[in-house]
Amino acid sequence: MSRSSVATAPALSRRQFAGRFGMAGVGALLARGAASKTRAAEPPPAPTGADERFWLSVRGQFLMPVDLGVMNAANLCPSPVPVVEALIAATRDMDRDPSFPNRVKMGEGKEATRRLLAEFLRVSPEEIILARNTSEASNLVSSGLDLKPGDEVVLFSDNHPSNLEAWRVKARRFGYTVKVVDQVSPHPGDEHYLDAFVRQMTDRTKVLAFTHLTSTVGDLFPAKELCRRARERGVLTLVDGAQTLGLLDVDLSDMQPDFYAASGHKWPCGPKEVGVLYVNKNAQARIWPGIVSAYPGAVGLSKTFESFGQRDEPAIIAFGEALRFQTRLGRRAIEARARELAQALMSGLRKIDGVKLWTHPDPARSVAVVSFLPGRLDVARLSAALYEKDRIAGAPRSGPDRGGLRFSPHFYNLHSEVDRTLEAIQRYMKSGV
Ligand SMILES: Cc1ncc(COP(=O)(O)O)c(C=O)c1O
Repeated sequence: MSRSSVATAPALSRRQFAGRFGMAGVGALLARGAASKTRAAEPPPAPTGADERFWLSVRGQFLMPVDLGVMNAANLCPSPVPVVEALIAATRDMDRDPSFPNRVKMGEGKEATRRLLAEFLRVSPEEIILARNTSEASNLVSSGLDLKPGDEVVLFSDNHPSNLEAWRVKARRFGYTVKVVDQVSPHPGDEHYLDAFVRQMTDRTKVLAFTHLTSTVGDLFPAKELCRRARERGVLTLVDGAQTLGLLDVDLSDMQPDFYAASGHKWPCGPKEVGVLYVNKNAQARIWPGIVSAYPGAVGLSKTFESFGQRDEPAIIAFGEALRFQTRLGRRAIEARARELAQALMSGLRKIDGVKLWTHPDPARSVAVVSFLPGRLDVARLSAALYEKDRIAGAPRSGPDRGGLRFSPHFYNLHSEVDRTLEAIQRYMKSGV
């Protein structure tokens, strides 16, 4: 089947999808009602070489209409229906009976999500902290380590503010020194950055904090090797995984960072405001809790580090459903699908006169965050025209550093959306917006 015939084929309804793949219908979860049993419709595993029709069926599991192409996973992802249903079911349960006896299951659900996250990241539940998002998780690290004058922290210039400005603010308060490795564009390859980071580390360096995949232009970093080189020097590592959890098949037992921070509402397609901080067992004695209140977690570090007060447990429970959804579909298949769409986008963009691609197309240097400068076109106007006239949404990026437009396709996007985006950009580049 050609891409264009797929593009015009009607999406399978969720009921058809459920029927075809033997899943419970939408609403079954609500009927069950119990938050601790939040199992709803699941996608089938992606078959090897899954075709566009399969991915169109997966798209049928999302509420986004099939004519709306939102390629903005680096910012915020939609949740598939089973996750939305899990969130609604648990919220209804909580609000129907907010008593302590009824809410026992909420605590159990929270611990179930912790176990699922541990399995997903291939670490132990004793090392998982359920945070609100990457920003909070990274700040728990920069606020929780005992750093003093004379100590050094090595950062990357293209870290998100939560992993750059946050360290600078705390450096002013506690008197330690921040050293920054500058980004080079286009991505010069792993060896360049390995050398650059190693050159900045001295015997005073206590922490190396970098981004696994940058949100600006999608530069991919050799996280395992950077963590290894830091570990050899007795330096703690914080890896910002906001752009890799739920996109890459992240294996922390292999990467071996001391800390890994990520958000559930990005690539994992979880509910909003649930994230994770992984704290390696070896680093747990080095970090102080930044928030001390009631309702801690039940195991390992969470008993002392995760007493964050009242939580939105239904959202945490629904995060578990998002992890199940991705696991069932297949994490390798998800990564391959996102990469395939990004590669199609990059190869099309490179053919359009006047477009400057900021993202390196080498799969060792990028994944599925694609940024480009659309010649002299006004980016805000282009972005508005794409959304209003072409039903395509990306992220306009202003500012002096490699501004332009960013598209970050994920497994729920379609080739027809990539084709439509390329056709529209070509049109606007020729005739203006
Ligand atoms: C690399 C990176 N780190 C951290 C964050 C912050 O994520 P959140 O807003 O979910 O805390 C983002 C958000 O885009 C990001 O891209």
